[in-house]
This record gives sequence, C-alpha cells and structure tokens, in this order.
Amino acid sequence: MKRSYQQSSSSGSFGPPKSKSRHNPDGDSFLEDESTKIFAKKVADHYSARTNQTLEEREASPIIHLKKLNNWVCKTIKSVLIQLYAKRGDAVLDLACGKGGDLIKWDKAKIGYYVGIDIADGSIEDCRTRYNGDADHHQRRKKFTFPARLLSGDCFEVQLDKALADDAPFDLCSCQFAMHYSWSTEARARRALANVSSLLRPGGIFIGTMPDANVIVKKLRAADGLAFGNSVYWIHFDDEFSEKKFKSSTPFGIKYKFHLEDAVDCPEWIVPFHVFKSLAEEYDLELVFVKNSHAFVHEYMKKPEFIELMRRLGALGDGNQDQTTLSPDEWEVAYLYLAYVLRKRGQPEQNRGNTRRDKGKMHLEKEDITYIRS
Ligand SMILES: C[S@@+](CC[C@H](N)C(=O)[O-])C[C@H]1O[C@@H](n2cnc3c(N)ncnc32)[C@H](O)[C@@H]1O
Repeated sequence: MKRSYQQSSSSGSFGPPKSKSRHNPDGDSFLEDESTKIFAKKVADHYSARTNQTLEEREASPIIHLKKLNNWVCKTIKSVLIQLYAKRGDAVLDLACGKGGDLIKWDKAKIGYYVGIDIADGSIEDCRTRYNGDADHHQRRKKFTFPARLLSGDCFEVQLDKALADDAPFDLCSCQFAMHYSWSTEARARRALANVSSLLRPGGIFIGTMPDANVIVKKLRAADGLAFGNSVYWIHFDDEFSEKKFKSSTPFGIKYKFHLEDAVDCPEWIVPFHVFKSLAEEYDLELVFVKNSHAFVHEYMKKPEFIELMRRLGALGDGNQDQTTLSPDEWEVAYLYLAYVLRKRGQPEQNRGNTRRDKGKMHLEKEDITYIRS
C-alpha cells in the first residue's frame, strides 16, 4: 500500500487534509467522506449542465468574441502537446475528456484507439454524438478514423485498471484542464496518479494542463482582498485563507472558486506543482517538462513546425510571429495555466505492433457507454 504523503515527505511535515479522506488500511483503494463526493458532484453537475450548443447558438452568445479567445489558449496548448507526443497508431486515454473537444486533434495525429472518460454524463453523451459525427448538420462534424470507447465515472475515485483491463496498456494519457479537480484530498490525487500509472505502458507519456498554483497564489497575495480577476475571470478564496498563507503540511484541499466568463463556474483546488511532481514519482511517473502557458506559447510560436498550426488557430494576428490576437485580459487568463509532460518509467517493448483496431467501435450507441459508479 502507498504511504500517506506525510510519511513519504522528507521533511515529515506533509500530511493529508484534516477530515476529508482516509486510506483503506486493507488494500490499495482509497476511501472518501461525503463532503468530497458532494464537491465532485458539484463539478459534474456544472459541466453536465453545459449541454451541446449548435453553432448558431454559440455564435449568438453575447460574449462569443471572448469565448473564442478563451478557446484559443486551450486549443493552442493542447494542439501543440498532442502534435508533439501523439504517434500514429497510439492507444490514447483521455481522462476528463469532456465533450470530446480534442477528437479532431487526435484524428490529425492518426491515433489507433481512443478511450474517453468523464464524470459528467451530459458531456459524455455530447462526446458520443460528436464522435459519431451525427450532430446537427449545420455543424462541421466528421467521422473519425479511430475506434473509440466512452465511460462515465469519477476518474479520481474509481480504480480504473479494472474497468479498462481489456483496453490497457495505453501509449498516451491526456488530462486537459482537469487534474486540479483531483486535488481536493490526498486520496483523490493519489487515485488519479495511480490510475494514470497503472494504465500507461512503460515509456508511455502523460500530457496535461492545469492551473499554475504559483501564479494564482502570487495574484492572491497581490490582491487587496481574497478575490482577484479581470473582465474575463475571477478567483475567490474563502475566509479560511485570509492570511494568504498555505502550510506545506496541507498541500491538498486548498479550494477556491473559479469563474471564467461563460465557461467555468465551480470549485477548484490548488495543485502545488512540486507536490504533484513528487507524488507522481511515487507512481513511476517522471517529469519531462513543465511550463507556464505564456512561456509555452512563446516557445512554440517561434518554431517553424508550429507556425502553421498557430496561424490556423488564429494565434498570429496579422502574421507577426511575436503578436497574438489576444486581449491583455485574455493573455492574463492564459497565464493562470501550465502544461506538463510526464513519462512512465521503464523501457517500452521492442516491436510493439498496433493491435488496437479490434478494440472499441466506430459508431457508439447510447448503450455502448460504460457507467462506472463507486
Ligand atoms: C475544463 S473541462 C476540460 C474538458 C476537456 N479535457 C477539454 O480540455 O476540453 C474539465 C472536465 O473535467 C471533468 N471532470 C472533473 N472532475 C472529474 C472527475 N472526478 N472525473 C472525471 N472527469 C472529471 C469535467 O466534467 C469536465 O468535463
């Protein structure tokens, strides 16, 4: 059984947050209390409520310009990560896949098999119709070239290696803009990383994006009160953090409310990256790199192989490589996020054949969705 963070820390001062979760002493499963489940449901309900809109509905939104700009940041970072690490024929696990917004990116990378999981039933249903390509005919939907499987469940609570025994190992795992939802308790953070590790093959890659704790805490400390933001987003901490100090002994459960105009409005948790890195190492996941979005975008905007991608995504306003079309407020939102890449320890098997074509389906009925309930 994995030790608690308290025991594994060299300083001996880290420990799980009080009262929220505990390990099951009899096995490798982690137990949760009711408040943790309530928060997980809040997050699920928030995302489920955001049902699929048609292109016309989206274009009619009063803040469509803002939304497009928001999307730009997410899309650019994810597209670059996928272009960098996804290889032809790869089996991909998309944790917290949402409505399948990355399906086209996976298709461009010519992956061989896709498994998507999300806690929000509504999002998984949207992902299913998007994958089938049978949504509203006004939307430019397409059929995808890889077989897929979709599951609905809490991937930071459930032990996924059982549910995915026939699908693993995966070559690549992606968790975009979601890992921070696991940081409500040590048990959930561990479950998230244990799932990634147990499902990746040796040498497999884990790519992701999440809020940059350093930036958020720096902004909080610079703010007059416990809230800060701009015309696009705001972040609000509860009074329990009025001193704006965070003990290294409690690196989990540091909750704040995040509001991103017409996109996100739910509780999130600070992920101190050094804790994420050392916890990941316990699960045989080694850091390849971590970069704040600003540095990430600046770096890849200048690489010739990504200029076309950047232009397609609208990153290069008038063709000037050093300028984006983002407003200053949008650019500030980008600063809130970081991108990371981890690699599962071990040597990949030689002559790995692509055996994925017999897994998953090319058209998913409602009944094909697997519901994993804890
Ligand atoms: C900001 S969205 C990102 C969706 C997608 N990865 C993307 O980049 O388009 C966050 C997603 O995390 C999902 N999520 C949050 N907590 C989760 C959990 N415990 N298990 C599975 N999915 C979760 C939400 O339902 C939502 O779809």
